[in-house]
Amino acid sequence: MEKIHAVYNSRFSNLDEIKISPLSRAYTFSDSVYEVIPFCNSKIIAFDKHIARLEKSCEALNFIIDINKITKEISGLISTSNLENGYVYYQVSRGVDHIRSHIFNDDISIETFGYVVEHFFKSQKLKVMLCEDLRWQRCDIKSTSLLGNVLSMNNAKKKDCDEVIMHRNNILTEGGASNVFFTDNKTVFTPSLSTNILPGITRELLINEIKNIGIKVVEDEFNINDLKNAKSIWLTSSTKGLAQVSAVSGLQINIVEDHPLYLECNKIFKEKFLGSC
Ligand code: PDD
Repeated sequence: MEKIHAVYNSRFSNLDEIKISPLSRAYTFSDSVYEVIPFCNSKIIAFDKHIARLEKSCEALNFIIDINKITKEISGLISTSNLENGYVYYQVSRGVDHIRSHIFNDDISIETFGYVVEHFFKSQKLKVMLCEDLRWQRCDIKSTSLLGNVLSMNNAKKKDCDEVIMHRNNILTEGGASNVFFTDNKTVFTPSLSTNILPGITRELLINEIKNIGIKVVEDEFNINDLKNAKSIWLTSSTKGLAQVSAVSGLQINIVEDHPLYLECNKIFKEKFLGSC
């Protein structure tokens, strides 16, 4: 198997050489946050925004980090990997406990871990399943506590679906690992930012770009009925880019595949951020 370049507590090595303690709070409590940072033709997409979001996640959990060191490690992973297209997974945890305890000791040190892998953006049409959003109330923090997402996405897989669209009491939140967009032909709609969704970087980049060329974007509260009436639905993430939804399991929808407005948004995003990736 190909060696995967990694870094653990600022020490670069291959992923399979890293040894971690089972008392890492990332392991026992998911007391950790992360970023997935894509790069394309050796250029990191929206690096500053990923770094800013990581800082925010760390701040929310009171992690004191050295952001310059982390930024250098992420760039270092990419430059030493010889990969042109891929992403870095980078995780920061509160550290390793002396013994498992909900209440942490103040003397433990931040633990960091990252690796880089090859990845290509592919054009995909996703079948999704609707499900109740099982998660906690701070989904705006990019925490590794993703059990709600994991359970829902694996239930969806059993039903032959690729992703989920989650809702809280009928109000749409986001995908299992993506943000949700849809259109009625003229306007692009997406759930507004709140503590119930992750402020996706792809979401932000897309909204800014399409607004710039005069496409109307409405960020608001939407429900399942709005999806029924949508002419196109798509999901966004750092690894998917924009991915069209082709079917919603159990829901009668009236979407037009390769809808012109979706195609236009995808083209704008690709031209601006992905080039030939
Ligand atoms: N996930 N919402 C959730 C719950 C996510 O996990 C993600 C991304 C997004 C999209 O955010 P962004 O555009 O910044 O990637 C929204 C990453 C890719 C992951 O966990 O692998």
